[in-house]
Amino acid sequence: MKSMAVLLWLLILSAFHAVALAQQTQFDITLGSSLTPTDHSSWFSPSGYFAFGFYKQTNGYAVGISIVGMPNKTAVWRANRNSPVVPRNGVLLLTRDGRLIVKAGSREIPVINPSRAIASASMLDTGNFVIYDSDRNVIWQSFDHPTNTLLPGQHISAGQQLRSSASEADDSLGIFRLKMQDDGNLVQYPVNTADSAPHTYYSTGTNGVGNNVSLHLDDDGLLYLLNSTKSLKNLTKGGYPRERTIIYMMKIDADGIFRVYSHSLNQQNSSVIWSSTNDGCDPKGLCGFNSFCTNIDDQVKCLCLPGFNYLIPGNWSAGCERNFTTETCRLKESTSKYYAMRTVENTGWEDSTYIVLGGTTKEDCEQACLQDCNCEAALFKDRECRKQRLPLRGALSDD
Ligand SMILES: *[C@@H]1O[C@H](CO)[C@@H](O)[C@H](O)[C@H]1NC(C)=O
Ligand SMILES: *[C@@H]1O[C@H](CO)[C@@H](O)[C@H](O)[C@H]1NC(C)=O
Ligand SMILES: *[C@@H]1O[C@H](CO)[C@@H](O)[C@H](O)[C@H]1NC(C)=O
Ligand SMILES: *[C@@H]1O[C@H](CO)[C@@H](O)[C@H](O)[C@H]1NC(C)=O
Ligand SMILES: *[C@@H]1O[C@H](CO)[C@@H](O)[C@H](O)[C@H]1NC(C)=O
Ligand SMILES: *[C@@H]1O[C@H](CO)[C@@H](O)[C@H](O)[C@H]1NC(C)=O
Ligand SMILES: *[C@@H]1O[C@H](CO)[C@@H](O)[C@H](O)[C@H]1NC(C)=O
Repeated sequence: MKSMAVLLWLLILSAFHAVALAQQTQFDITLGSSLTPTDHSSWFSPSGYFAFGFYKQTNGYAVGISIVGMPNKTAVWRANRNSPVVPRNGVLLLTRDGRLIVKAGSREIPVINPSRAIASASMLDTGNFVIYDSDRNVIWQSFDHPTNTLLPGQHISAGQQLRSSASEADDSLGIFRLKMQDDGNLVQYPVNTADSAPHTYYSTGTNGVGNNVSLHLDDDGLLYLLNSTKSLKNLTKGGYPRERTIIYMMKIDADGIFRVYSHSLNQQNSSVIWSSTNDGCDPKGLCGFNSFCTNIDDQVKCLCLPGFNYLIPGNWSAGCERNFTTETCRLKESTSKYYAMRTVENTGWEDSTYIVLGGTTKEDCEQACLQDCNCEAALFKDRECRKQRLPLRGALSDD
C-alpha cells in the first residue's frame, strides 16, 4: 500500500516537471534558436493563436507576426516593410551574441534593432513579440512599433503613425497613413504630403484637446482616444463579446480606409465591425494624376480622363497619361479640327487654375479653352470657367 502511494506521488511530480520543461522550451526563445520558411517557420504564443516567424508573401517570405488558424494567414506586424522578401533558403536566427537577423545567402539583415544584446524573446498571447535583455528587462516589443494594425492592449502614441500596405496580398509599404498627431487630432493623409489640412481625408476633429493623446483598442472592440488617463472620444461603441477565441483588430487597409475587424478562431471567419468611412473614394491619392474616382454599387474604380490611358495598368495611384501626342499650338488655335472638349460630370479636382472667367456658359468656356495655347482642361461650375494646365490631380480639396 505504502509503496504504491509513493510511486503515484513520484509520477505526478515528474508529470509537473515535464509540463514546466515544455513551457520553457516552447515559449522562451533562447539564443541559438532559428526558423526557416518551409520547415520550422514559427515561434508560437502559449495559446497557439499568434505566431512570430516567416509567412508567405508575394514571391517569397516575410518575417512578422500573424494570427494562426485563419484560412488566410492574417499578419498583424511585419519587419522590414521596405526590404525585398526573403527567399526560400533564408534563415531567421537569434544569434548566440544576441542579435535577431535573417540570413539569406551571404547577406545578414537585422529584423529589429534593440538597444542592447538580446538574451531571450517571447511571443505573448496578446500578439506582442517581446525581446528581453539578460536582466529580463523588455528592450524591444512589437507593440511599440505598430505597422498597419493595432491589437487589443496596443496603442499609437502622440506622434506615431500607421502605414497601409501596398495591397491586400503585399504587406510592403503602401500609400496611406493614419497619424496620431501631437495636437490630439487623429488624421489620415496620403504618403509624401505635409501634415496639413488640404491633404486630410479623415480626422476625429480633436485637435487642441491635449498634447499626449493616444489611440487605443480594447479587447471588446472599443477603439478610443485617451489623453493620459481620460477617455476623450470613442470611435467604436465597443461592448462586443470578450471571448478567448475572438480577436479584434484595427487595421489601415491598402485602400486607405481603417477598419475594426472581429476574427473568430473557432468559425475561422472574420467581419468588419466598424469602418472609418463607407465611401471608398474618400482616401485622397487613391487615383493619380489625370484620373478620378468613381464608386458605383460599392465598386470603387479610378477612371482616366477621356483621351488618357493608365500609366501603369493595375496601379491607380500612378495615374493616367495622354494617349496621343499633342499637336502644335498653332494648329490648335487655327482650327478645332484636331481638338475637342469632352465633358466629365461631377468630379472634384485640386485647383490648378491660372485664369478664371466669370459669367460664362459651358460652351463659351469650351471655346475659351480651345483658343488658348496654355489651356488643357477647364473646370466649369456656377457660371465660372477655370482654365487648367495638366496634370489634373484628383479631389484634394473638398467641394
Ligand atoms: C482568402 O483569400 C482569398 C484569395 O485572396 C479570398 O478569395 C478569400 O475570400 C479569403 N478568405 C477569407 C476568409 O478572408
Ligand atoms: C486632457 O484633457 C482635458 C480636457 O478634456 C484637459 O483639461 C487636460 O489638460 C488634458 N490633459 C493632458 C495631460 O493633456
Ligand atoms: C502620455 O500618456 C501615456 C498613456 O497614454 C502615459 O503612459 C505617459 O506617461 C504620458 N506622458 C506624458 C508626458 O504625460
Ligand atoms: C467611451 O466608452 C466607454 C465604455 O463604454 C465609457 O466608459 C467612456 O466614458 C466613453 N468615453 C466617451 C468620451 O464617451
Ligand atoms: C462567422 O460565421 C458565423 C456563422 O456564419 C456567424 O454567426 C459569425 O458572426 C461569424 N463571425 C465573424 C467574426 O464574422
Ligand atoms: C485614346 O483613348 C480613347 C478613350 O479614352 C480612345 O477612344 C482612343 O482610341 C485612344 N487613342 C489611342 C491612339 O489609343
Ligand atoms: C504605383 O505607382 C506609384 C507611382 O508610380 C509607385 O510609387 C508605387 O510603388 C506603385 N505601386 C505598386 C503596387 O506597384
